[in-house]
Amino acid sequence: MAGRCKWCGDDMEVFLPYARLGLCKSHFKYYVVRRVKRTIERYGMIKPRERVLVALSGGKDSLVLLHVLSTMNESNDPKISLKCEVEAVTLDLGIRGYSEGCVETARAYCEKLGVPHHAVKMVELAGFTMDDVASRRGRPVCSVCGVVKRHFLNKVGVEMGFDRLATGHNLDDEAAVIFSNYLSANVEFLSRQSPILPSREGMISRIKPLFEISERETMIYAQFQGLTPIDRGCPYAIDPSTHRFKMVLNVLEKEMPATKIRMVRGFLERVKPLLERDGTTPLRKCAMCGYPSPSEICSFCRLRKNYGPM
Ligand code: FES
Ligand code: ZN
Ligand code: ZN
Repeated sequence: MAGRCKWCGDDMEVFLPYARLGLCKSHFKYYVVRRVKRTIERYGMIKPRERVLVALSGGKDSLVLLHVLSTMNESNDPKISLKCEVEAVTLDLGIRGYSEGCVETARAYCEKLGVPHHAVKMVELAGFTMDDVASRRGRPVCSVCGVVKRHFLNKVGVEMGFDRLATGHNLDDEAAVIFSNYLSANVEFLSRQSPILPSREGMISRIKPLFEISERETMIYAQFQGLTPIDRGCPYAIDPSTHRFKMVLNVLEKEMPATKIRMVRGFLERVKPLLERDGTTPLRKCAMCGYPSPSEICSFCRLRKNYGPM
């Protein structure tokens, strides 16, 4: 790539149109960590010395998240340093030929970074696996999986006494979700959409430290750091509509750089406060598992009635 790094004058390896910024390899890596640190500070996501549990699936984004948080932990450079206690958890969903690889990738990677890793098996916690869900007719597997992951990651985080549960959602994920919910005027969903959810009784605070980093940036960061995510996709992944919204946003971004970040920030700064004024659904305790739920029985316990234990 022709051009020079704006910070050091070396060969430029990456150009970021939304910032009109060209950087060499090492400054790009530094830039990503610094931006994540700024996001964390701007939204008050992690305070020094808090205990952070990273939901590590073995995929690219969660590996990048763990790498960035460990880099901050080890650094003494005030622009990127953030001392907190980082551990990771992987939920073994029991998908034959796939879940074993996810757990192994996550485990090996944590070992390399010296981060404590916890692997929890869905079959032991729920009494059924995602393979069992797929073998029956019913809701789309991915939507059941979303409920299961939310329930158990929260449960593990709360029971192990962590302050935050961090997930690897990136800017493209956030922009696509907001965009699609604007189009369907799903106000209830939009009012709950946030890169940081505070803790409540029985519910850990959830944070998305990568939500201002684009998919392209996480991809390049992973490549530059030599991170090797699991090489297979989930066999139950269908082409979700989110993918189409991402494609549309990529076209807009190409024509008008910074579209995605402007949309997400605009939503958080100007739209969300208006929605919050209308109030969000209050939570009570699920009558079956005791974890917070908007209805008498939480969505996970409703699922368990249908699927397990098998
Ligand atoms: Fe959950 Fe594929 S990872 S269904
Ligand atoms: Zn440079
Ligand atoms: Zn429940």
